[in-house]
Amino acid sequence: MKINAQTKICCVIGDPIQHSLSPAIHNTGYKSLGLNFVYTAFRVENLKDAVLGFRALGIRGISVTVPHKVSVMPLLNKIDNKAKEIGAVNTIVNDNGTLTGYNTDSPAALRALKEITSLINKKTVIIGAGGAARAIAFGLKGEKTDVLIINRTPEKAKTLAKETNSRFGGLSKLCEIKNADVIINATSAGMHPDTNTSIISQDFLRENQTVFDIVYNPKETLLIKYAKLKKCKIVYGYKMLLHQAALQFEMFTGLIPPVDIMEKTLLNQLEKNIN
Ligand code: ATR
Repeated sequence: MKINAQTKICCVIGDPIQHSLSPAIHNTGYKSLGLNFVYTAFRVENLKDAVLGFRALGIRGISVTVPHKVSVMPLLNKIDNKAKEIGAVNTIVNDNGTLTGYNTDSPAALRALKEITSLINKKTVIIGAGGAARAIAFGLKGEKTDVLIINRTPEKAKTLAKETNSRFGGLSKLCEIKNADVIINATSAGMHPDTNTSIISQDFLRENQTVFDIVYNPKETLLIKYAKLKKCKIVYGYKMLLHQAALQFEMFTGLIPPVDIMEKTLLNQLEKNIN
């Protein structure tokens, strides 16, 4: 990649950020299309100053991750309606100093699911009510699928359910998974180093169900292993990461992303492992 005075710069901001896979995923896409773009990562503590910096330096696109997805919103010029509804921004596009916030987590989750299963007239259970669960629940809003949101803290599930026309419950409702078609773990349970954890017991799973685990480190979580044993259809967590990046790529460059190449790089990076 030749970097010169015309190179357009994109980045991801978060704290911590040193294990982010986003630079590898985006840069492999730029390289494959021969674009004069480069993508880097910044650990940001002072968000206000960072946003001023994006405008001052003309940073073209910014991916936003924990802990800045909500707090960045008042610092932008415009927020897309969907991101406003979700209450979180994971993408900023800079058009000549005008910063607009979007959320690509939500359509990415939907895309990952729809690659594997239809959602029409299905029963879907989401476990979790944090940021990831919000993106998924809003993605499913408007789909013809019945959604039950289960969370350890039921009040949080109640709030999200109200916003997304879903039903809700506490962990005592987990047995309802037996009757579900689509099961989504939107909690961090099972994530490295806690790899021997699954909120969902193997006994609740059966053939023909689709199981989506948002955890991608490790790729084969305990829940995914259970789901495979029960011959369920699988949606890997890394697919959501891939598609949110692919959607950002399109917004930053205006070009169709080389998704297959980006996926290959992502899987290579996951294999080398992050923790
Ligand atoms: P994220 O942005 O990744 O969704 P978050 O906002 O901190 O992260 O939310 C984490 C979610 O995982 C929450 O729904 C949390 O449940 P609580 O709201 O009760 O805290 C859920 N969670 C995390 N670890 C869990 C565990 N071991 N058992 C059950 N739920 C868990």
